[in-house]
Amino acid sequence: MTTILRARDVHKTYRTDPPVPVLTGVDLELREGERVAVVGRSGSGKSTFLNIVGLLDAPTSGAIELLGQDTGALSARERDRMRAHALGFVFQEHHILGHRTVAENLEIAAAIAGTASAERRTLVGSALARVGLTGRQDAPGRLLSGGEKQRLAVARAVLSSPRLVLADEPTGNLDPENAANVLALFDEQARAGVAVLVITHDDRIATWADRTVRLRAGRLEEGAQP
Ligand SMILES: Nc1ncnc2c1ncn2[C@@H]1O[C@H](COP(=O)(O)OP(=O)(O)O)[C@@H](O)[C@H]1O
Ligand SMILES: [Mg+2]
Repeated sequence: MTTILRARDVHKTYRTDPPVPVLTGVDLELREGERVAVVGRSGSGKSTFLNIVGLLDAPTSGAIELLGQDTGALSARERDRMRAHALGFVFQEHHILGHRTVAENLEIAAAIAGTASAERRTLVGSALARVGLTGRQDAPGRLLSGGEKQRLAVARAVLSSPRLVLADEPTGNLDPENAANVLALFDEQARAGVAVLVITHDDRIATWADRTVRLRAGRLEEGAQP
């Protein structure tokens, strides 16, 4: 199976005064279709790691390989392209535009990802169907329930068929039923070969994943129990 992500000896120290060493040698590999959960206490560096894997922040040292490419060797433009085409993001704060309709939220995301306008409508339609929001396409984002908003966030994340979905506490604000719905959407992605990396302190996710690793003292421990 194809390796989607390889994080190698990732270190991150924030250059504050005094400097804060957050990651001190993190290694992680994700293959096609694999669902991995990273657990750890608040402040252990989970979001830091996710942002580095997502090319939103650079490691102090170490390497992030995506689809066999060392992302440190890419130009800023090539990294942007990699982020737009290979990665999908879901955050706890879903950043849905409240004054835009559900369909518009996705159309805007598709436009930003560089989808030609002729293809956007079809893409948006199938994404809405996939997350069960077809009937809500004309509703303004602010009128969606928490569960619907998070499903919309998942639709947006998978719009351009990413190879890796990165989710930071995606069920943090959801009740059990809506959390299960979001995880079911991730399952569907994984069955299609997408690698899913979820960062969480939610035990439901730790039991859902194929593999759970714990971030502790700047490093990842394999085989962590929730
Ligand atoms: N931009 C930043 N500058 C300085 N320190 C930061 C920054 N972002 C996070 N930190 C610190 O790094 C540590 C890890 O934070 P974070 O990755 O958000 O942890 P988690 O997501 O596990 O709660 C915390 O001590 C936090 O205060
Ligand atoms: Mg966090």
